Parts: sequence; C-alpha cells; structure tokens
Amino acid sequence: ETPLCVLGIETSCDETGVAVYDSRRGLLAHALHSQVALHGEYGGVVPELASRDHVRRVLPLVRQVMGEAGISGDDLDGVAFTAGPGLLGALLVGASVARSMAWGWGVPAVAVHHMEGHLLAPLLEAPAPAFPFVALLVSGGHTLLVDVRGLGQYRILGESLDDAAGEAFDKTAKLLGLGYPGGPALARLAEQGDPGRFRFPRPMTDRPGLAFSFSGLKTRALTTLRDGPQDAQLDADVARAFEDAVVDTLVIKCRRALQAVEARRLVVAGGVGANRRLRAALAEMVAEEGGQVFYPRIEFCTDNGAMIALAGALRLAAGTRCGLEIPARARWSL
Ligand code: KG4
Ligand code: ZN
Repeated sequence: ETPLCVLGIETSCDETGVAVYDSRRGLLAHALHSQVALHGEYGGVVPELASRDHVRRVLPLVRQVMGEAGISGDDLDGVAFTAGPGLLGALLVGASVARSMAWGWGVPAVAVHHMEGHLLAPLLEAPAPAFPFVALLVSGGHTLLVDVRGLGQYRILGESLDDAAGEAFDKTAKLLGLGYPGGPALARLAEQGDPGRFRFPRPMTDRPGLAFSFSGLKTRALTTLRDGPQDAQLDADVARAFEDAVVDTLVIKCRRALQAVEARRLVVAGGVGANRRLRAALAEMVAEEGGQVFYPRIEFCTDNGAMIALAGALRLAAGTRCGLEIPARARWSL
C-alpha cells in the first residue's frame, strides 16, 4: 500500500482541530483550540461566534501543526476536513480552507463525516481494534450504537429519540448551576453523591431494542431538585442518581448490541466516553461478555483534528475524494 500523509481539519462545532496523520508513521502532530470560554457566558454554542473564531484560528493552527510535523505542502497526499454534520457556518470555514489548500497544493480533498471520525478515533491507539466492532458514539449531539463491519460499512443499531447523552448531561448540569458544557463538572459533583439516595429510571431498557431516550432524566432531575429535601447533599445526590442512570442505560444497551450482532469488540467514542464511571462499568460488562473495549485517548474522545486526519487517510486509501465543490452539510446521516 502506498503510504499517505494527510492534513485533517475539524471545525464542526466549537473546537478548531488540526492534525497530520501519516499512514506509515502514525500521528505526526495535532493541535486544538477550544472555544469553551468564548461560549461559556451564553450557556451554549453561539453559531456565529463559532464560525468567526474558526476563521481566526484555523490557519495559524495549520501552520503550527505542519511545523511540528516537519512537513510542507509538498509532503501531503491529501487534505481531509469535516463536511458534516454540525453547524453550517462553522463547517464551511474548515471546508473552504481545506478545499482551497488542497487545490493550491494539487492534492485531493477528502470530505469526512464527523461521526465516522469519532468512531475511527480508537484506531489511533495501540492496540487498535480490528473490524468488525460495535461502536457506541456518545457526544453532545449524538447517541448512536453502530455495527461497524469495515470502513464505510456502518449499520445503525440504535440512536436517541430525543436528547443525546451529552446533551442530557449538559442540560442537567445547567439545572445544577454548573455552567456549560457541564458534563465533566456534573461527573465531578456526582463523586460526592450518595448512590443509594435516589434511583432514576433506566429509560427504554424494559423493552427490547437499542433506541435511547434521555430527556426524561433531565426532567426527573428537575423535579427531584424542586421537591426533594433541600439539604446540602441534594445537588450531589441528584448528580449521582442522574449519572448512574445514564451509565447503567448505556451499559445495558451496549451489552444487548454486542449480543445482537455477536461482536466481541466494543469501541466507545465521543465526549461522554471520557466519563470515568461509564468507562469502569463498560469494562466490567465487556469482561463478562468475554470481549474487549477500546477507547481513543481522553483528548481524542472529544472533537479533534486527529480523528479527521486518520479517517481522511483511510478514505483516501479507499479512493474517496471530493470534486472542486465545497461540501458542508448541517445534517448528514452516517
Ligand atoms: O464529542 P464532543 O466533544 O462534542 C460533540 O460532538 O458533541 O462531546 C461533548 C460532550 C458534552 O456534552 C460534554 O458535556 C460531554 O461530552 N462530556 C462528558 C464528560 N466529558 C465530556 N459527559 C460526562 N462525563 C464526562 N466526563
Ligand atoms: Zn463530536
């Protein structure tokens, strides 16, 4: 196989991620600029601010990463970018820059699906999971279980009918006054919570199937906070009950998914994959099933350029490339 060196650019939401991946030598360099501080005071991502900040950050990051990788445009075989799903204006920044640089350097541009990036991210680690595997993608925008047979061979086994798991974490964190995005802060608060005080439901686990529904848990947290005894422990105990319910639900559905497709490997990716209690519970379940669980390193659980450079290299090797148009799709199914 011809070795490929690919620059990857991620701008689908509130992180500008840039990386260089070489199919022979692995990840050569990567850098990320997070806009969390920029959107914090608004309690969520403001699309126009996101686009403008990507415009400011993307070229300096490309220069930095190529410098660190010790390469110039001549060394590249392609430029990959996230083409969707995501915020359209934000996507267009990365897509325009990537498409233009690829044209300037005379190499192919490769449009990458953001969720494909997430589900392939564990392939950046050693040992890398072999195909086939079941992927649990749990981010702020998605909760998906996917039967992955090979590159581009994805069958969705189940997804959330309402809020994504990360979205539920963020909304519940907001109820607890924890800021945005509140997932990690909620997980920290839950550490001090008493697991026995409240028991929240495990939505949709009492019937067959692999779909999820997380919006009811946020409502449950709201009513418990409002009606529960107003003591110093209440917030932490609600955080713990919420986290336990989400984790348990994800574990139950992952076990079902592994059994349904007779897979032994589980790949977990997306921001919520950074959750420590989820990791511990999945490790236990997968061990019971006689399988193995794979994660990207923590920093590649959330949005990043490395997963886009990797997915781009694999796609490029498989012959995928885009024309001279600049594709960006806010909605795009896997
Ligand atoms: O994949 P990601 O960076 O962005 C999307 O594409 O959505 O995921 C971000 C999400 C946020 O909802 C954030 O609160 C959640 O992942 N998250 C966590 C943790 N770390 C990040 N949720 C629970 N526990 C964590 N430790
Ligand atoms: Zn993401």
